[in-house]
Amino acid sequence: MSFNKKILCIGAGYVGGSSMAIFARKCPEYKITVADINQERIDAWNSDNLPIYEPGLYEIVKEVRGKNLFFTIDIAAGVKESDIIFVCVNTPTKTFGAGAGKAADLQYIEKVARLILKHADSDKIVVEKSTIPVKTAEAISEILHSSGDKKVKFQIVSNPEFLSEGSAINDMENPDRVLIGTEETPEGEKARDEIIAIYSHWVQKDKIITTSVWSSELSKLVANAFLAQRVSSINSISLLCEATGANALEVARAIGKDNRIGAKFLKPSPGFGGSCFKKDILNLVYIAQSYNLNEVADYWESVVLMNEYQKDCFVKRMVRIMFNNITGKRIALFGFAFKSGTGDTRESAAIDIAKKLIEEKADLVITDPKALANAKEDLAEYKGKVSFTADPYQASCGAHAIAIVTGWEEYKNLDYKKIYETMERPAFIFDGCNCLDSGALYDIGFNVVPLGRGELVRW
Ligand code: UDX
Ligand code: ADP
Repeated sequence: MSFNKKILCIGAGYVGGSSMAIFARKCPEYKITVADINQERIDAWNSDNLPIYEPGLYEIVKEVRGKNLFFTIDIAAGVKESDIIFVCVNTPTKTFGAGAGKAADLQYIEKVARLILKHADSDKIVVEKSTIPVKTAEAISEILHSSGDKKVKFQIVSNPEFLSEGSAINDMENPDRVLIGTEETPEGEKARDEIIAIYSHWVQKDKIITTSVWSSELSKLVANAFLAQRVSSINSISLLCEATGANALEVARAIGKDNRIGAKFLKPSPGFGGSCFKKDILNLVYIAQSYNLNEVADYWESVVLMNEYQKDCFVKRMVRIMFNNITGKRIALFGFAFKSGTGDTRESAAIDIAKKLIEEKADLVITDPKALANAKEDLAEYKGKVSFTADPYQASCGAHAIAIVTGWEEYKNLDYKKIYETMERPAFIFDGCNCLDSGALYDIGFNVVPLGRGELVRW
């Protein structure tokens, strides 16, 4: 079959895999190839066991795979045949040298740019979709134009992805906006129109925003920083509520009714996680510092510091309420994913909470419907000090306490009477997600400690 356009996506992770599956479904006349250096990942994309869990994704992949969506490790061939190349490789925070702990590690992006340069023998539009700091496009552009070979022309476009894990399919099918940043030159405008043409298959024109490359890159970081800031803000208030006897859920509802504030992202939690929030804020901090805007940097860094404090307070409250001693006590952590609806544990609050509990010498057991494999990797250094089970009933059997850290739907519908019967007394539930009916649990016999609210205990 001949295709109108050929698109290559480099990087078969959450962003690359999910967004290209949507492209393929919405644009049947485009050939979409997703390439990765990781053979295992590509094999998984080509199997019935996709490498990531995202509701609804498997059905879409099954529908378009082999028709106009292809997964391969042959990046060179993909570069040669494609008109448009999306870069969706990971950009972790640097762990070494200048900017360690804050700046993005751009080695993956740079490798990709060099690879494109090596194999491209016709003009390409190169689109950055990974979250990368402002001015990365400039760096990519410099590498791509470094050969001095004027025959092959590259246009760099920034098209950040705003999908949220667990609802990625809906986010991509019905986006709030699509952001396209291009250079303000005739070639840049032409590239912009090519990207608009893709999204116009299903996104209304007024939702497609076009900006300069820099504004687009910065907007992605700022969007995540603002979202994370809301979570840290409500979490800071949840601590004040716990100290003063107010109810953080009531406060969130009351302020959320104000149209200017809005009701979303006001759920107190044991701490935000996910691959983006912390990384993006730290990038923002690094950029601000590198322009000597230290107050700006400190302002945004406090959002991350508040998040660390929240995790610490969650564990300290557990220890305090359990008579200042959890040594040898079996504690069941319900949930390990950074939020429900995903198996992803990157930066999950559960990681630090688990480590702190282990350091307090608790006998920790972890349960999660989707994230156990990742949890085992995250806690590999604590082998022998923590156990894992997919069954929440088994996890809570013989436990002194349950701590709900990920608000999975299934945790709402467990038989807590049955669970209570198998637990040590006094039995505690620390509901970090406020997903259970505290009153009903108290009536069963539990001591209930919801987040951001007063505890229901029998003394
Ligand atoms: C985020 C952005 O939402 C998305 O636009 C961007 O593309 C990637 O980063 P994601 O990390 O998948 O998406 O999850 P999100 O739903 O934003 O949640 C992030 C964290 O904040 C989770 O740990 C979640 O539990 C927490 N959170 C969210 C709260 O604690 N309270 C809230 O009210 C909302
Ligand atoms: P994200 O959540 O941003 O999609 P992931 O870590 O899930 O991030 O996926 C990024 C993918 O990019 C991984 O599958 C990784 O193997 C791939 N990758 C990293 N560097 C390269 C590269 N130089 N060429 C091709 N793929 C790469």
